[in-house]
Amino acid sequence: MQTHIKNICCIGAGYVGGPTMAVIADKNPHVKVTVVDINAKRIAAWNDEDVSSLPVYEPGLSDVIQRARGRNLFFSTEVEQAIDQADMIFISVNTPTKTYGKGKGMAADLKYVELCARQIASVAKTDKIVVEKSTLPVRTAQAIKTILDQTGNGVNFQILSNPEFLAEGTAIKDLEEADRVLIGGEESEAGQKAIQALVNIYAAWLPKERILTTNVWSSELSKLTANAFLAQRVSSINSISELCEATGANVKEVAKAIGLDSRIGSKFLQASVGFGGSCFQKDILNLVYISKSLGLTEVADYWEQVIIMNDHQKRRFAEKIVQTLFNTVSDKKIAFLGWAFKKDTNDTRESAAIYVADQLMDEQAKIRVFDPKVSETQMQTDLNYLNTRSEAENEALLKATEDPYQACKDAHAIAILTEWDEFKTYDWKKVYEQMKKPAFIFDGRRILDRKELEAIGFRVYRIGEN
Ligand code: UDX
Ligand code: ADP
Repeated sequence: MQTHIKNICCIGAGYVGGPTMAVIADKNPHVKVTVVDINAKRIAAWNDEDVSSLPVYEPGLSDVIQRARGRNLFFSTEVEQAIDQADMIFISVNTPTKTYGKGKGMAADLKYVELCARQIASVAKTDKIVVEKSTLPVRTAQAIKTILDQTGNGVNFQILSNPEFLAEGTAIKDLEEADRVLIGGEESEAGQKAIQALVNIYAAWLPKERILTTNVWSSELSKLTANAFLAQRVSSINSISELCEATGANVKEVAKAIGLDSRIGSKFLQASVGFGGSCFQKDILNLVYISKSLGLTEVADYWEQVIIMNDHQKRRFAEKIVQTLFNTVSDKKIAFLGWAFKKDTNDTRESAAIYVADQLMDEQAKIRVFDPKVSETQMQTDLNYLNTRSEAENEALLKATEDPYQACKDAHAIAILTEWDEFKTYDWKKVYEQMKKPAFIFDGRRILDRKELEAIGFRVYRIGEN
């Protein structure tokens, strides 16, 4: 097994595989990188001449794509061919939370990962390094190895764990200026060689001291732990936000005061309507499930509380809207600004907006949504996934608009669900004039200037202050 890789294949052209491979290819012009996916539409979009229609929106991504695509970066649906030619294969397919059977609602669904492993085993004719890039429960690498070793054509496989730490919206920067890269591998000589091969890829642009090598289990568990700690901070400050509302303290002031303590630090203390995204909830649920399976009840309960707090925060926000609008929102128009789980991404997985909308729709509110990067089709898909009501009912109750002013016209209230920068610069006076009175704003992201809005005439509620 060589330590200088010439040909990389990545299975899965999603939010992780796409940007990660783009940066690897950009920084390693002599390595051929092929990203494959079974979704032909997605691959076509990655190959689109017009880089504004890439399937993933990330600031800076289109520049990287323009530099590397066609040179040493390729997107293709020819999965088997790419596997056959590669020395190193990244598995970057989706690992959603299971929606059926044992571990439903908690364990990671590994069916896509297993399918990948089986496909690699059946195609490979030469030795390969297989890198798990998806977020996987601890000990998945072992399962992949067993499948590869038992079903393959007698070729040697080395499995590495290389968790991603990129946050959406800042993915390119997170990759180019990574705080650290983690590579877990076997302690054997062959394992160490495989680790070195991947270290060499990252060393093309990162200083060696930021590339950490560990055993496989530590690497897998570190990924879950990092996300659990970050999510825990958000749930902690969100729990304090409710206390602030009850006492008259202001959560922003509290966050600033504690954040200045260098032991605590200022990041991930922004109180909000609740965290979303594809990682936090899934990773914590994974941690909870693993702990439960191992009989570690207290450990499981400890982490589960982070999720309980997050669900409570979303519910509390929706309840606040209903209560404030005189305990009825039936047939009232409520404008949502934002649907993505955070700004600068078109990803909506686990976005708080979905749950807040669902709850208000139960109360028969009419929701009109504006999000600069999310389509109405995506919003409907997100709602239908919850299975609360029929597709026709969802379509009747929630509609998207192309224009924020249109969304707010004749609305009784506006709810801010995503912290898009452009919301700060709207003509709020104009918005106010076109709304029903009294006009309310529920700022779930704390991005608007309260005094300014109140001077116009709005009644303002912001998470974490009364
Ligand atoms: C996260 C991790 O940060 C990243 O390292 C990992 O690899 C993938 O999961 P991501 O889900 O893209 O990244 O977004 P992140 O910036 O971590 O935010 C997650 C959620 O928490 C968002 O909904 C965000 O709005 C919310 N959040 C974050 C807060 O509500 N308050 C904060 O202070 C920070
Ligand atoms: P992530 O955020 O983890 O990148 P995504 O859902 O955005 O998740 O991307 C995962 C991609 O993996 C999807 O585009 C999906 O079509 C692709 N995929 C899943 N299974 C396979 C497979 N067996 N072969 C090729 N691609 C796959």
